[in-house]
Amino acid sequence: MKTTVIKTTDLCKSFANNGGQNHILDMVNLEIFQGDFTVIMGPSGAGKSTLLYALSGMDKPTGGEVYYREQAISRLGEREMAALRANEFGFIFQQAHLVSNLTLLENVVVTGYLNKQRTAQEVRVRAEKLLEQMHVEGAMNRLPSQVSGGEAQRAAIARAIMNEPGMVFADEPTGALNKHNTQEVLKLLTELNAAGQNILMVTHDIKAAVRATRLLYLEDGRIIGEMPLPPYRSEDARSREKQVDAWLSSMEW
Ligand SMILES: Nc1ncnc2c1ncn2[C@@H]1O[C@H](COP(=O)(O)OP(=O)(O)OP(=O)(O)O)[C@@H](O)[C@H]1O
Ligand SMILES: [Mg+2]
Repeated sequence: MKTTVIKTTDLCKSFANNGGQNHILDMVNLEIFQGDFTVIMGPSGAGKSTLLYALSGMDKPTGGEVYYREQAISRLGEREMAALRANEFGFIFQQAHLVSNLTLLENVVVTGYLNKQRTAQEVRVRAEKLLEQMHVEGAMNRLPSQVSGGEAQRAAIARAIMNEPGMVFADEPTGALNKHNTQEVLKLLTELNAAGQNILMVTHDIKAAVRATRLLYLEDGRIIGEMPLPPYRSEDARSREKQVDAWLSSMEW
């Protein structure tokens, strides 16, 4: 049996709109499992980012509940919530969002300091090791303005996994990258998942979606379809693309 990492019950999110309510998430009941590289697809405006923000505690739902390993996150106080985000969640966005006056290494190190378990020396050693693993060791002493978009995004991945999070949330992490850097980033995410890292990624890109072990389709604030996939192997890339393409067609994507 699979272990549940995140679970939602009747999750709703609505925004006030011209005196009425816009229902963006509409009673979402969802489980995200240990070991999975879960990918959420769906049309623009479907509520994918809104769902990610609700699941990661960045935004409060207007109804229902989100559980992280059986802990109802709405019951957490500000301080507990901050600790959960710092220690258990990693984030990757379309833009790297690195702190502009810190080097790549310092960006990763600062995140490490949020976790009280490691000494400053341990944080530094781990940050350097992760930047090596992400193939940006040559750029780690440069500022974000002095590196390429691909390098910045790989540093952002290092930062996301610095504190060994229980879940990495990625919202279109390859959306601003060229073809080569997209494949680099996807390869790194796939390797991390193969090593046990739980990942929840939103994407519009079939080439990114094929990396999933589980695909979910969100439309009008509801999960309307899902498909499991075996762990990614590059030799299966073509056949997976066809499979995902056919599945998306069946969803009228
Ligand atoms: N803070 C907000 N206030 C009002 N409406 C919002 C707010 N945030 C999002 N929305 C609306 O909620 C809907 C879903 O937005 P969301 O960003 O979750 O979509 P998405 O599926 O991530 O789309 P995309 O693929 O374009 O990124 C949109 O219609 C958006 O305009
Ligand atoms: Mg979005």
